[in-house]
Amino acid sequence: MSTAPGLFITFEGIDGAGKSTQARALGAWAEAEGREVVLTREPGGSAGAEEIRRLLVEGTPDRWSGETETLLFTAARRDHLERVIRPALSAGKVVISDRFADSTRVYQGAARGELRGFVDTLHALAIGREPDLTLILDMDPEVALARGLARRSGEDRFEEEGLAFQQKLRAGFLALAASDPARCRVIDASRRPEEITADVIATAREKLQ
Ligand code: TYD
Repeated sequence: MSTAPGLFITFEGIDGAGKSTQARALGAWAEAEGREVVLTREPGGSAGAEEIRRLLVEGTPDRWSGETETLLFTAARRDHLERVIRPALSAGKVVISDRFADSTRVYQGAARGELRGFVDTLHALAIGREPDLTLILDMDPEVALARGLARRSGEDRFEEEGLAFQQKLRAGFLALAASDPARCRVIDASRRPEEITADVIATAREKLQ
């Protein structure tokens, strides 16, 4: 078992900003550095949370109220934290998650209604853990939206809400980054994937050492 302390890194940003590609690239790099890596995602990441994910990503945009949606995301996150994230960090692993609590702060807390107080109270009660480092992949929503919708996976409930919504999300993530500069780094994700990866690795390297 590794003796290094665990490290919890999250990727955040609007739909289609390339988070999963960059999460994989960072994971491969950390493994090459000799670390054990757990790559995971939200909503989902544990068996129970993946079941909740289906309730969240399928169906029409008005399927749930903002409050119900927040409760479901938080329930999924609690399971993910208990079953996957905490055990891996305790074992000294590097946990890299494609989305975590900042997505709820921005999607449910800001962009889908004024639920930030509700989101923050639930987070404090049920989650109470922040990542060591959050990489916010920032890009023009018009480009990201085109990429996201191109995927057409049957999981389009959130992406279908349009460009104005994605612009609100972008502003929400940038505001969040500004409010917590010790944890969050904004990465320009409009560049070529290799350039973004180089930036991601340089930022994570500081935390890993
Ligand atoms: P995800 O699978 O990351 O989609 P994408 O790869 O397109 O970014 O997440 C599915 C959707 O769920 C996505 O539109 C963001 C949304 N979401 C929330 O609204 N709140 C949350 O807390 C999380 C984790 C995701």
